Amino acid sequence: MSFKLPRGTRDILPADMSIWYYLESKLHAVSRRYGYREIRTPIFEHTEVFSRSVGEDTDIVAKEMYSFRDRGDRHITLRPEGTAAITRAYLEHRFDAQPPPVKFYYYGPMFRYDRPQQGRYRQFYQFGIECFGVDHPAADAEVIALTTDFLEEIGLEDVELQINSVGCSQCRSIYRQKLVDYLAPHREQLCNYCHQRFDSNPLRMLDCKKVECQEIFQYAPEITTVICEECHKHFSDVQRHLQNLNIEYEINTRLVRGLDYYTRTAFEFISSALGAQNSIGGGGRYDNLVEFFGGKQTPAVGMAMGMERIILSLHEQKQFPPHDNLQVLISAEGEKLLFKAMELAGKLRKYDITAEVDYTGRSLKSLMKYADKHNYSYVLIWGEWEQKKDKITVRNMQAGDQEELSEQQVVELMKRTTCMQREDK
Ligand code: HAM
Repeated sequence: MSFKLPRGTRDILPADMSIWYYLESKLHAVSRRYGYREIRTPIFEHTEVFSRSVGEDTDIVAKEMYSFRDRGDRHITLRPEGTAAITRAYLEHRFDAQPPPVKFYYYGPMFRYDRPQQGRYRQFYQFGIECFGVDHPAADAEVIALTTDFLEEIGLEDVELQINSVGCSQCRSIYRQKLVDYLAPHREQLCNYCHQRFDSNPLRMLDCKKVECQEIFQYAPEITTVICEECHKHFSDVQRHLQNLNIEYEINTRLVRGLDYYTRTAFEFISSALGAQNSIGGGGRYDNLVEFFGGKQTPAVGMAMGMERIILSLHEQKQFPPHDNLQVLISAEGEKLLFKAMELAGKLRKYDITAEVDYTGRSLKSLMKYADKHNYSYVLIWGEWEQKKDKITVRNMQAGDQEELSEQQVVELMKRTTCMQREDK
């Protein structure tokens, strides 16, 4: 029996939580600013929600889904991504009857039986947004702008935005033929994965990371030379909107993304701080997905980012979140002062200060050691000696100095300090 973590999963320990809280507060704030509203769907869905919409030939569906039969013999899958589930919810709750655009954001764990390595896990967190009902290129640019705002606000640098158009279904069937014609003479040199996809889903081959395949694809026709006039105009207009918003991008005509539902715009955010798993987020348009789920033809566009990869990039760039709220430890001598200390802690908590009373009875020396180790900003010492003078000793742990203040002055000082900290954020 093993009492260790399952491979590819991680515990997020209390010391690591502050960066998660910080990023979570930013993603809620940025999404709301753009008029997106949060939606929470279940962690598991019926398998078919993902299998055909994401694509039977994608790695996700072919190799990575956590699927099982429940006790009622239903086929169930732990969600590997959010878009398909959100589209299911969009129709199930008749959001299609509402005037467009309908804009959702979501956040939570996703599951993929991937080969674990730095930045690639079997359970990972995604923050995503989905905008339904608008085919205007401005919507694509806005999804990208929200992502850029988020990345800028958290201070992530050296992120490259790559964009492409994968065209509509008609463009893709023309391109598919062109690609097959070009690759036919090289078929024997392709890896097993590409060999299998040659007939079933040739576009998927472009996603293959094998060097020998990439060398062959180098001279393959580019999809942007094949897309129809309407798709071409859409792609140019997305770019005009990005330029208007001063968002820098690179066109990568080989970008197809790992999911089959995309139409027209596809994009990816690449962080130079990461190694092989350098995509911190990606997305695009999926104008046929609502129809696929049985709704009327409804254009849609969205994106999702991997939180672990964002945190890794921030760490690589030595970017740390601002401090948590002020942490105060109160030490009282004797029962009578303990009652007063509990009251004082209550007063401080009203200002969103983390105030804890030390009721272990440890010596002053070990109290200081403990406070230092656990990053308390202040220790308030309330002993008989202070009581006699109607004062409290306030030790500033960072500065290493201390002063004696009345209870009222202590509250004022903590209030002021916590306000200043918040302004700094
Ligand atoms: P995706 O590219 O499959 O797109 O995933 C989005 C992001 O999730 C990736 O860029 C990466 O940061 C993170 N990610 C993916 N797999 C892992 C993993 N095994 N470990 C850690 N992080 C991972 C989607 O999921 C689409 N639903 C995005 C979208 C939304 N398209 C339209 N709307």
